Amino acid sequence: MLVLGIESSCDETGVALFDTARGLLAHALHSQIDLHQAYGGVVPELASRDHIRRIVPLYRDVLQRAQVEPSAIDAVGYTAGPGLAGALLVGAAFAEALALALGRPACPIHHLEGHLLSPLLADPAPCFPFVALLVSGGHTQLMAVAGVGRYRLLGETVDDAAGEAFDKTAKVMGLPYPGGPQLARLAQSGRPGRYRLPRPMLHSGDLDFSFSGLKTAVLTQVARGLDGGDAADLAAEFQEAVVDVLVAKACGALRQAGLGELVVAGGVGANQRLRERLDAACARMGAQAFYPPLDLCTDNGAMIAFACAQRLQAGRGAKALPAAFRVFPRWPLANLVPPG
Ligand code: KG4
Ligand code: ZN
Repeated sequence: MLVLGIESSCDETGVALFDTARGLLAHALHSQIDLHQAYGGVVPELASRDHIRRIVPLYRDVLQRAQVEPSAIDAVGYTAGPGLAGALLVGAAFAEALALALGRPACPIHHLEGHLLSPLLADPAPCFPFVALLVSGGHTQLMAVAGVGRYRLLGETVDDAAGEAFDKTAKVMGLPYPGGPQLARLAQSGRPGRYRLPRPMLHSGDLDFSFSGLKTAVLTQVARGLDGGDAADLAAEFQEAVVDVLVAKACGALRQAGLGELVVAGGVGANQRLRERLDAACARMGAQAFYPPLDLCTDNGAMIAFACAQRLQAGRGAKALPAAFRVFPRWPLANLVPPG
């Protein structure tokens, strides 16, 4: 089965072709970083307009690279939420229109399900059941994953997401957008422990997270001055604080669920320090951590094509007749019964 995947939920336009027999045939991505840089964050209206400009050329590019005719496509999966409404609508309109023209099903896909299943594209791939740590710009969640579409929430952030904390803290420290990766880069040359930041909810006894206080603690330190240390040390301590909490709770989730495989997904999953620490902690408890390939950690079309293929193969989630579309800017993963 050949599935086209479309991602347009935020500031990346992603298109990919996944074949259930041959794997990922091609994927193409356009990032809007340059477009939003001057504003220090994503401007939703500009994002929507740029998706409109990019989506058809990216689609043509992917077909050409995979040497595939449109008529060979068996289904079109697209991110239907959560995300920016206008941005989602571009992908949804394109995908539904294409599916209608081809006489194929269109399949609305949950963005986080895309992230969550993306480590299955890695080699070696995890096996169900596993615990998933979803750490993106908008979400921080621990889920027990029994199979495709069978997700149980174990814990989540009560305020900022981990990626959001990276981005906001980077802003507080005067780093350019997009802050998270810049902050991680700066942290590489710093030393944690020179400054002391809190580890929020580390001992809360549950699997929830809170990250908004960390950004405030960094702000306070910046306002006080870096007295002797430097920004890299503060960045390293911030990163270590986030990683300490993520590692402790991910291990707690494995113990609580009685599982030995951890899947890490979402943009913060690209963080090298997080990977090192999770690998070490998992090894200590006889567990194993799995990550998507680095270029598939942040938003992309491949994870949407893949999730769509998985849902179709599991007999879940395709609409029979593409005719109308809706998007779901807020869509809890727990409500994954396909909408519409
Ligand atoms: O999954 P994603 O591309 O988009 C969402 O669905 O949110 O994640 C983007 C988030 C941003 O907050 C970004 O700062 C963060 O992932 N991020 C990182 C790194 N690379 C991306 N955070 C920490 N370290 C990184 N290396
Ligand atoms: Zn994402």
